[in-house]
Amino acid sequence: MEKLPKEQTINMRRKFLCDSCPLFYSNSPLKIVKASKQYMYDEEGNKYLDCINNVAHVGHCHPYVVNEGSKQMALLSTNIRFLHDNLVILAERIISTMPSSLSVVYFVNSGSEANDLALRLARCHTKSKDVVTLDHAYHGHVTSLIEISPMKLRMMAKNCDVPIQPYVHIAPCPDVYRGKYRDCDFPATEDLSQKYADDVQRIIDDIKAEGRKPACYIAESLQSCGGQIIYPKDYMKKVFRYIREAGGVCIADEVQVGFGRVGSHMWAFQVHDVIPDIVTMGKPMGNGHPVSAVVTTPEISASFQALGTSYFNTFGGNPVSCAIALAVMDVMENERLMQNAKEVGQILLIKLKNLMENHPLVGDVRGIGFFIGIDLVLDRNSRQPATEEASCIVESLKRNGIILSREGPYNNILKFKPPMCFDKENADYLVEKLGEALTEIEQKSNH
Ligand SMILES: Cc1ncc(COP(=O)(O)O)c(C=O)c1O
Repeated sequence: MEKLPKEQTINMRRKFLCDSCPLFYSNSPLKIVKASKQYMYDEEGNKYLDCINNVAHVGHCHPYVVNEGSKQMALLSTNIRFLHDNLVILAERIISTMPSSLSVVYFVNSGSEANDLALRLARCHTKSKDVVTLDHAYHGHVTSLIEISPMKLRMMAKNCDVPIQPYVHIAPCPDVYRGKYRDCDFPATEDLSQKYADDVQRIIDDIKAEGRKPACYIAESLQSCGGQIIYPKDYMKKVFRYIREAGGVCIADEVQVGFGRVGSHMWAFQVHDVIPDIVTMGKPMGNGHPVSAVVTTPEISASFQALGTSYFNTFGGNPVSCAIALAVMDVMENERLMQNAKEVGQILLIKLKNLMENHPLVGDVRGIGFFIGIDLVLDRNSRQPATEEASCIVESLKRNGIILSREGPYNNILKFKPPMCFDKENADYLVEKLGEALTEIEQKSNH
């Protein structure tokens, strides 16, 4: 294909594409032309260490995944109304990683599609419409999910009046560093998981007071979009119990955090020792190819079937997507990538926490496996977010060939979600350059 000069690519993008999607590094966007393992390369051949692409799960363009996908593409790609081995083998393989109650798979094409279907399943099973969602959550771009994604609702609210639907209920995000109940505001003996869970119970009571019941509680098993949040111990257990007691079901959105990212488990809900009723997965599943899935119980699936409408999805579960997802799972096992996330993630977490000794800008470092957040603050007591400083650090790292990004309601949290082959040397380099960037900015602003 013809290669365009970078300026022309920028101009054509401005001219022909919608500008609702901001580019990374919008002042000087990167034109990435190839990638391999945990590295990306721009059009001038500059190499970048990728610390954010959780989609390129087993490494960018992994040759085995590429080969399995191309082989199947040359053979057959069609819909799931024909029998195909890839479909059933992949379903069985995913189920084998789940608790035994979760044994029915629906294949779809994106995280949004997976969460939309999860909502449909929950509503159909419970015959209710009310959804309890977490503040700052993002669950997808389709209409049904924007309604339950406070992160987007808030952004839209800045520009226009976006009413929260009467069947959507926003519970506080159980963030003990920056949320409604902060660890620094209570004695260490206080159970903050209970306080956050009590808020969910209050929402349930309000729904019941209006003569309804919750259809579902939906949450990422660890909240990515809200700023890499690790919920307090037992919060999920309590909330799952309350929702079920009220007749609702529990949906774990594993679109970002699933597939072994946490290192200790295949699914992040397992960290909390809970069993959801519906699990959604996407991004990492196809290593860049669009393939996603919903897994649920036979009972919920039966309620959906009882509707009598057949469920058909043109591309979901096609043999190419399934071959690719199977190849991703092969590579994870063969290259022991969960083990890598566990070991390297732990080393990195310790090194990042050590940065706190010399860098007052670092207010909190939290994480598990290859899911780490670094909350930057202007002052450790007030925890006032260091948004500008976070932006400068991201730019400084870019100059050193490191792609890192930021998120959270104040955009002050550095997020780390690299391909699972990120290694110890990468961790050393990241910590070294992050330390330098922190020093530089602290000296400038006299921290
Ligand atoms: C937690 C979470 N759920 C769902 C989605 C939607 O996935 P997709 O963009 O594949 O539709 C995203 C996307 O960023 C996500 O982060």
